Amino acid sequence: MKDQKPVSKTTHDIVGLWEEDLLKRYPEDPQKKEEAFRNYDDPARDTVKEFYQLNHTYQTFDFVQRKEREFLSLGRRAMSLWEAVEFLNTLVDDSDPDTELDQTQHLLQTSEAIRADGQPDWFVLTGFLHDLGKVLCLFGEPQWAVVGDTFPVGCRHSEKIVYSEFFKANPDFYDERYNTLYGIYEPNCGLRNVHMSWGHDEYLFHVMKDYLPEPALYMIRYHSFYAQHREKAYNHLMDAHDHEMFEWVSAFNPYDLYSKAAAPPNVQALRPYYEDLATRYLPDVINF
Ligand SMILES: [Fe+2]
Ligand SMILES: [Fe+2]
Repeated sequence: MKDQKPVSKTTHDIVGLWEEDLLKRYPEDPQKKEEAFRNYDDPARDTVKEFYQLNHTYQTFDFVQRKEREFLSLGRRAMSLWEAVEFLNTLVDDSDPDTELDQTQHLLQTSEAIRADGQPDWFVLTGFLHDLGKVLCLFGEPQWAVVGDTFPVGCRHSEKIVYSEFFKANPDFYDERYNTLYGIYEPNCGLRNVHMSWGHDEYLFHVMKDYLPEPALYMIRYHSFYAQHREKAYNHLMDAHDHEMFEWVSAFNPYDLYSKAAAPPNVQALRPYYEDLATRYLPDVINF
């Protein structure tokens, strides 16, 4: 098992499929959950499963360290917020030919739902930029290292992580430094001391960390950490401050998942509002 290298048969783009799968796992109406799971004859589910096989096999502690060294000097590209949004939009998700939603529209639907609820302006801005870290795909990173649920590395993988059985193909599963409950960490050491699997969340946190209030940074950094914000599987690593901040992560999550509006947002009409909002928090040029 240890030497087995799964090969992806995936030809689709996983970005949209992962988000659709999240909606099946965490439907807005929990009563619908069983119904969605009973539909086994679903080719999209097989694609998502293959995706997690790759993700869980290759996201090792060592891999994460390498990616942190490779990307966190933020020297790849300098862009204004809107340039980054337009750059991300060149990422074509061909996983779902039925929806016309592009990346910009997902960002705007999220942020407009936050704005409609009268939330603070930094919360609206966070909704608008929360997935910009997906530009990693455009820097040539494989999708299993950009999207998908995130989880701590350097300690035992929780069984609450989606498709946790695939961790048996991850070398860390057999490594005594990393396969105990706490691994390299101390009990309740705080998530700031914990390395998360590499992806768009961790990356964008580092891009934005000097500019946004702390609750916004938690939302960005942990929005795909479903094993914690939905399943509470890592309380043993969190400290009291994390728990306080995760109330914001939980407040953000429904806007990310359930904000699909009937009419797609008018991108050009909304642009001046978001460009003005960005000037209140972000520099003219952001380093990615
Ligand atoms: Fe995301
Ligand atoms: Fe999102």
